[in-house]
Amino acid sequence: MCGIVGYIGPKDTLPILIEGLKRLEYRGYDSAGIALSSNGKILVRKKAGKVADLVADLKESNELPQAHLGMGHTRWATHGEPNDINAHPHVDCKGEIAVIHNGIIENYLAIKTRLKQRGHIFKSETDTEILAHLIEEIYKTKKDLFGAVRLALREVRGTYGLVVLSSREPDKFIAARMGSPLILGLGEGESFVAADAAAIIAHTRQVVYLNDGEVAEVTAHGFETKTIYDVSIDKAIEEITFDLSQIERGGYEHFMMKEIHEQPETIRNAMRGRLLVEEGNVRLGGLEHVRDKLLDARRFIIIGCGTSWHAGLVGEYMLEHIAKVPTEVEYASEFRYRSPVITNNDVVFLISQSGETADTLAALREAKAKGATVLGIVNVVGSSIPRETQGGVYVHAGPEIGVASTKAFTSQLTTLALITLMIAREKGMKKEEAVVLTRELDAIPGKVSQIFKNVEPIRALAREFRDSKNFLFLGRGANFPVALEGALKLKEISYIHAEGYPAAEMKHGPIALIDEKMPVVFVVPKDSIYEKVISNIQEVRARKGRIIAIANEDDHEINSMADYVIRVPRTYGFFGPILNVIPLQLLAYYMAVERGCNVDQPRNLAKSVTVE
Ligand code: G6P
Repeated sequence: MCGIVGYIGPKDTLPILIEGLKRLEYRGYDSAGIALSSNGKILVRKKAGKVADLVADLKESNELPQAHLGMGHTRWATHGEPNDINAHPHVDCKGEIAVIHNGIIENYLAIKTRLKQRGHIFKSETDTEILAHLIEEIYKTKKDLFGAVRLALREVRGTYGLVVLSSREPDKFIAARMGSPLILGLGEGESFVAADAAAIIAHTRQVVYLNDGEVAEVTAHGFETKTIYDVSIDKAIEEITFDLSQIERGGYEHFMMKEIHEQPETIRNAMRGRLLVEEGNVRLGGLEHVRDKLLDARRFIIIGCGTSWHAGLVGEYMLEHIAKVPTEVEYASEFRYRSPVITNNDVVFLISQSGETADTLAALREAKAKGATVLGIVNVVGSSIPRETQGGVYVHAGPEIGVASTKAFTSQLTTLALITLMIAREKGMKKEEAVVLTRELDAIPGKVSQIFKNVEPIRALAREFRDSKNFLFLGRGANFPVALEGALKLKEISYIHAEGYPAAEMKHGPIALIDEKMPVVFVVPKDSIYEKVISNIQEVRARKGRIIAIANEDDHEINSMADYVIRVPRTYGFFGPILNVIPLQLLAYYMAVERGCNVDQPRNLAKSVTVE
C-alpha cells in the first residue's frame, strides 16, 4: 500500500527519493509524487501511473534544482481516483506546506467543510489534502511546524503515516504515525524517513520505529519525538539486520519466483534453533513466558487476512488433531465487528506477514482489551503487531516483496507446526511419538528442493490452460486450506476466476460448473482421507471435468484417474500442506507469465494493507 520516503542531508535529494520509491513499488500503488524544498520554495511533481512515468515527466521538464530536503510518495487510491491531482504530495493554499500521507482521515469531510468556510481552496478529492490546510490554519498563529502538526493531529480521527515539509522551516521535516508504519533512518549528517526499511536500507541500518501517537521533528543531525499531546519520548535506536541482497531479485525475473525458490531455506530458518529433532521437542523463546496461559487455555483463536488466514486454517487442523486444543480461525475484519465473546482463558494468535495489516492489528487490540492473551506469528521484525502482542514467534522468512505471498505462507505453516508440537509435548505426547514428527519436519526443506527439480510438467499445464476462464481447486482436511490458497494465488496474479472448496462440498454447488472445459485441481496426498478424495475425483470425471492431481510420488493408482499428475514427496499428513502448496504457487506463477500479467505488482492489490 502507499509508500513514503523522505530525506534531509548534504546529498542531492531527488535520486534518493526516486530510488526509495522504486524499492517501495512492491507495496502496490497507482500514482507517485515528490516534493523538494529549495531556496525557500517547495516544488511538487506528481503523476498517475508508475514511478517510471514520474521519472520520465521529471526528465522532460528538466527544471528541478538540487535540493537537500525532500519527500516522495506512492499512492494506493482510497478517496478519489488515481490521477495526477489526487496523487501526493498535497499542499496548502500558498504552496508553503506539503504533506504525504498513508492511511485514511475518517473525519476529513467535517474538517474540509470548516476549512472551506474559512476560505481554503481545495484542489483534490483526497482526505489527505485537509492535513495541509489544517496545518496551514494553525501555523498562522503558531509559527512552529512541529507544534502546529501536533495540534492539527489532535483534531484528526483515523490513521496516518505522515511527513510534512514547510518552506519556512527548510532545515527539518516532521513525521507522525497513527496506525500506518513509519521509521526514521539515521545516517552521518543525514536523516531519512520511510514507510518501510526497504526504501532506506541502502543508506543506513540505524532506525527508530515510531509508535502510534508519536510525532518527530527530524533534522540532518538528529530528531526529537513527542506525543501529539506534547509529552517528550525517548526513542531507542535499533539496527536493521537484513541486507539489500535479501530484497533484490537475485537473478530471477520476478520477486515471486525468487521467493518461491527460497522456501527450502526460509522453512529451515523458521525451524533453526527451535526444532530439537532428536529430543522430539521444540523450543520457542517468545512463548516461554506465556507457557501456563497456553497450557490452560480454554481455546485458541487464530486471526489473519488473506494468505495468513489460510495458514491459520491449516493451524486449526494441526492444533486440534495433534495438540488437542479447541481452535477457531477468524477473518480479522469479521472478528473485530461482531462483538466476539472473549475471556482471559482465550489465547489469540495473530498471523501476519507484514505485521501491519490494519484489520489484524485492530482485532489484536479488540482481543487484548477483552482480556485474551495475544500472541503474534509475524514475519516483519519490529512491525506493529509484534510490538503490541504479549509474545509470539517470528517466522523468519526474510523480506517478502512479491505481492502474492509464498514463502511467508510456508514459514507460517512451519511455525504453526512448531507451536503445535511444543504444546503437544507439554501436554504429554511421548518422546518416541514426537521424534517421528520432528524428523518429518526436519526433512521438509529437502523435499521442497525435490519439487523444484521437475517443474516442467507444471509449466506445460500453464501453457495448456492459459486461456481457461475458470478453475476449481479441491482438497480435504488440512489440504482444504491449500485448495483455497491455490485458488487465491491464481486469481491474484493471473486474473482467472478460481474457487477453492472442500472436495466433498463440491457436490453442493460447484459441481454445476463442471464440463469438459473446467480444470479441477485436486490436492490428493496419500493420507487417511485419500479414498474419500478419490470418490470426489470420480464425481468430476463422470462429468468430464479435466482433472489435475497434486499427488504423492508413490501413488500409482492416480494415473488412471487424473488427466495430469504433479508429484510431491510424501510426508506426515498434517505437514503435507507445506509441500502441496508449492506446485500451486508455481502453477499460478507460470499461468501469470503465460498470460503476460505483471507478476510482482498485480492490479489493484497491495502487499501491506494498512487501511480497513
Ligand atoms: C494483502 C496481501 C496478501 C496477504 C494479506 C494479509 O491482501 O496481498 O498476500 O495475505 O494482505 O497480509 P499480512 O501481511 O497480514 O499477512
